[in-house]
Amino acid sequence: MAITILGIESSCDETAASVCIDGKIFSNIIASQDIHARYGGVVPELASRAHMQNILPVVDQALIKAGLSLSDIQAIAFTRSPGLIGSLLVGAQFAKSLAFSMGIPLIAVHHMQAHVLANLISETDSVKSVPGFPFLCLTVSGGHTQIVVCRSPSHMEVIGETLDDAAGEAFDKSAKLLGLPYPGGPLIDRFASSGNASRFHFPEPRIPGLNFSFSGLKTSILYFIQNETEKNPEFVEKNLADICASIQGRIVSILLNKLKKASALTGIKNICLAGGVAANKGLRKAFEETGSSLGWKTFIPKMEYCTDNAAMIAVTGYYKFLDQSFSPLSVTVSARADW
Ligand code: KG4
Ligand code: ZN
Repeated sequence: MAITILGIESSCDETAASVCIDGKIFSNIIASQDIHARYGGVVPELASRAHMQNILPVVDQALIKAGLSLSDIQAIAFTRSPGLIGSLLVGAQFAKSLAFSMGIPLIAVHHMQAHVLANLISETDSVKSVPGFPFLCLTVSGGHTQIVVCRSPSHMEVIGETLDDAAGEAFDKSAKLLGLPYPGGPLIDRFASSGNASRFHFPEPRIPGLNFSFSGLKTSILYFIQNETEKNPEFVEKNLADICASIQGRIVSILLNKLKKASALTGIKNICLAGGVAANKGLRKAFEETGSSLGWKTFIPKMEYCTDNAAMIAVTGYYKFLDQSFSPLSVTVSARADW
């Protein structure tokens, strides 16, 4: 009998629901919260309230799009951690209530594991190839930057992570220094496409092992902009494309140098990207080029499965269902990223 999972994601500022049948995605609905842009970042209390408004219509839409009704669902997967506590609570309470009222299992999912497993997503109408095990995954988002060895859907190990800012934060904070609105990552990407990445030099941090650090880069960009605008108040405006290309080039080289090191150390050549920063055109291009020069098999999920989404939660729920890895109704959410 087919295994049908409803996935719910509400860890930050996207309210999302998805239906997965036997590991394939049949719907992936996302309600984004535009309200945060005017505050320059996500406001937790506003996010929780918007989740409460959005969750029912989003789940309804996910079922309609999949052509199913609630009674077809065999288990409910939801994001348990990490994330904003108020946001997580809305999704968790909704999932628990539904699972309890329907008498079906509840599956608690770790958001970062789900980002990694987004690489295993296949759809009804595609024959996208998925990585074999083991694979390495560089997960780069607004809240996290990690290199993970994935040996099976349930066996993952973090072998490198950021000691301070995440890669997405590095993009967003750099954008803020340039006077660009939040979230600035996609804007840096857009301006960088017509810029010269070797025009300005930002130092690469010397962090041992496979860990990352982006706080030094942020400071060097801050001083660079202060110095140059003192000399010429129009400096940023006149050189925006080259500044963005140079910043993006450095963030990408920091990420890929560690990924190359991780592949060399583990001998693993199936390499994946995941997370919202995987949308970055400079990163995608450099990742593919590095991959072809080093003989990697490279994988990047479809864009809608890179940014926060519920398809990755539903698919992780499917693999946990196969392992009968269910959670009691007493399970609690956690803001922390511990695996
Ligand atoms: O995975 P995600 O949607 O949410 C989190 O879990 O954080 O990632 C959002 C992050 C933001 O920092 C955003 O600026 C960044 O991904 N981002 C990008 C691009 N698109 C999204 N950064 C650089 N270039 C992009 N094209
Ligand atoms: Zn995420």
